[in-house]
Amino acid sequence: MKEINDLIQAMEELLKQALTDINQADSSDALKQIRVKYTGKKGSLNQFTRQMGQLSAEEKPQLGQAISHFQKDFNLAFAEASEAIQAEEMAQALAKEALDVTLPGKRRKYGTRHILTQTRQEIEDFFLGMGYQVIEGPEVELDAYNFERMNLPKDHPARDMQDTFYIDEEVLLRTHTSPVQARTLEIHDFSKGPLKMISPGKVFRRDDDDATHSHQFQQIEGLVVDQGITMADLSGTLLAFSKQMFGEETEIRLRPSYFPFTEPSVEVDVTCFKCHGQGCAMCKKSGWIEILGAGLVHPNVLRMSGIDPSIYSGFAFGLGIERVAMLRNNIDDIRHFYQNDIRFLQQYKGGAY
Ligand code: DAH
Repeated sequence: MKEINDLIQAMEELLKQALTDINQADSSDALKQIRVKYTGKKGSLNQFTRQMGQLSAEEKPQLGQAISHFQKDFNLAFAEASEAIQAEEMAQALAKEALDVTLPGKRRKYGTRHILTQTRQEIEDFFLGMGYQVIEGPEVELDAYNFERMNLPKDHPARDMQDTFYIDEEVLLRTHTSPVQARTLEIHDFSKGPLKMISPGKVFRRDDDDATHSHQFQQIEGLVVDQGITMADLSGTLLAFSKQMFGEETEIRLRPSYFPFTEPSVEVDVTCFKCHGQGCAMCKKSGWIEILGAGLVHPNVLRMSGIDPSIYSGFAFGLGIERVAMLRNNIDDIRHFYQNDIRFLQQYKGGAY
């Protein structure tokens, strides 16, 4: 009987040791190792279980009881310790991952509309309000539309004023937005009403860039065709437009000029909005500032687009968007628009898109 008592005694010692280990464990990992050490396959407890076979029928239940006592106490202590350690570990993890919601966020930099876009949209808005359509044409254009259909045949001397970039003999980068006149005229259905359109877009010239010239710039074309359109319609429209863009007190003046696609042709000046006609540096002391070219659509232009000039007439105008933006914002060099210098652009914040 001594042996079984020794065994039970040894198991009590082992349990004491195990409980001490469990209480000292400071992590889930350490706990796991303790479990392997005591109750795992090769663990200490198994050394006792294995001896079961050598015991007598009386001794066996005594050892069995001791083993289950060990297991019960061990498991209880283990579960308690495990719960406490897990709670502690969770608290630590939460503390480590805590978000400081008082930190300032990262501010996104929003772009704003380019001053040329703002100017173009403002002009578009005016004409949309007057019932015009906005129609875009191709930047790579046929010679036929850019020149011939605008009454500039191949040998016309006025072509010299608009040299451009040629793709081949017949295809080029358009020098003005006027070809959209022909493209629109040839498809417009006059039985549905008059044609009133503007056409904004990029144009190109073989020019050397300087403060007032750019090989690429933007224009807005305007075209109205109906029965009985006269110079009075043109000047009334342009007066309303000028007042909108340059101030209510603005007056306009039409000077005779020449364009192959209009007859008569005019150049349109507005009263200087800086000195109001007194004469200053802006208007070169004249009191007037030139803003666009215009006229009554040449009968040839109508005819070439299949429209009978004895029934229909119209007016057209073309203006440079850069020029309007430069005048209104006191910008002295056209190249500023295209250099993307953020210091320049930021002066004309026009709100987000
Ligand atoms: N296309 C001309 C240019 O680029 C501008 C122009 C003048 C357009 C008179 C017109 C117009 O429609 O009637 O210089």
